[in-house]
Amino acid sequence: MNYYTTPSESARNILIANDRGGYTIPTSGLYPYQWNWDSAVAALGFAEFDINRAWVELETLFSGQWADGMVPHILFHKPDPGYFPGPDVWGGTGPIPSSGIIQPPLAATMARRVLDMDPVSGKERMRALFPKMLAWHRWIKAWRLDDHGAVCTTHPWEAGRDNAPDWDNTMAAIDASDVGEYQRRDTSHVNSADRPTKYDYDRYIKLVNIGREAGWDQAKLLELNPFRVADPTMSFTTLRAARDLLAVSNDLGLEADGLSADIDRLEAGARSLWNEGLGAFDARDAHTGEWAESVSNASYLCWYAGIESARMLERVKTVLTTVPHPIPSYDPHMPKFDERRYWRGPTWAFMNMLTGFGLAEMGHGVEAEALRLKTARLIAGHGFAEYFDPLTGGPAGGNSFTWTAAVWLHWAGRN
Ligand code: GLC
Repeated sequence: MNYYTTPSESARNILIANDRGGYTIPTSGLYPYQWNWDSAVAALGFAEFDINRAWVELETLFSGQWADGMVPHILFHKPDPGYFPGPDVWGGTGPIPSSGIIQPPLAATMARRVLDMDPVSGKERMRALFPKMLAWHRWIKAWRLDDHGAVCTTHPWEAGRDNAPDWDNTMAAIDASDVGEYQRRDTSHVNSADRPTKYDYDRYIKLVNIGREAGWDQAKLLELNPFRVADPTMSFTTLRAARDLLAVSNDLGLEADGLSADIDRLEAGARSLWNEGLGAFDARDAHTGEWAESVSNASYLCWYAGIESARMLERVKTVLTTVPHPIPSYDPHMPKFDERRYWRGPTWAFMNMLTGFGLAEMGHGVEAEALRLKTARLIAGHGFAEYFDPLTGGPAGGNSFTWTAAVWLHWAGRN
């Protein structure tokens, strides 16, 4: 960090530097396009100093919405040969070259926060976005629910937690022997020890190939895709987004038929992810019914979704007092914990923010504030890294990262 600027100035400068005109890249080099949930977090950061730009970020994201309501996880606005897999490998069928999967739906929740920050200027923007956000919600309901109402991820990248241990068993059953040669680009930008392994990457590409060859026809993919995991990230964020959509529809008098019933179903689904043996919310393979047996940082998103859990509260208290830089993306007591490898241990500031929102809203102000201050210390001490070693606080992955800067401005760094 540059000692001649305050962290807030640095954070603003990062957002401005990563702005590519209407959308923000997560970081230059490693991630040169618009990512779905990163953009939703970026909007919160922009809202702190340029509310119009916050709305533009969300509007650009929805400019890539497919005719069926799907909002892709990456929009390839301008070609960049430094990224793999690019638009040709994905073969997205929307109005802008894109991937063919989604990411956890944060947009409605963040749009509501932006609206609350300036209701007068935001009303019309929200009215215009609302039907698009509702269409995305309906797409998720149509194509991603399991029998319980839990929301499934159909690719590890869809849940946004690429190499989480949650997917290990499901991934092991995928035959990727025919993926052929390809050149990864992520490991030419950052340390390969911080990144997913080749074993994982072969399977990521295999799943992309299956989707592209099916023309991203969701009915076909229900049959063809071997990867279908009911997941806390998708389930909690979808439930939360639906609650926010309902609140906005009531406030602004907008059509949202069936949303209350959807919320009941999604809530039952999210609750079904409680793994009693593990004592935590967990991922469950939708084909086999097998639990992942994984306590991840997504397990702590229950409050964000409006779901209380005494056992999770005990856990959060323990993590806040025993892990130097919480919340680790995987429980440090579990054998697969790896403090530097992406979603298998490291701490992610934006996930802390989501958990912090939920804790505060559900009356756990002490824990919310402890988490916020620890996140602030982590960023102030180690910079705007993509993610952090939960034991040492060491920065890892990319740097000058958009969502870490946005988290500072909107939540962690507030006085
Ligand atoms: C990685 C993360 C994902 C994020 C993307 C861009 O793939 O796992 O959650 O959206 O990078 O930052």
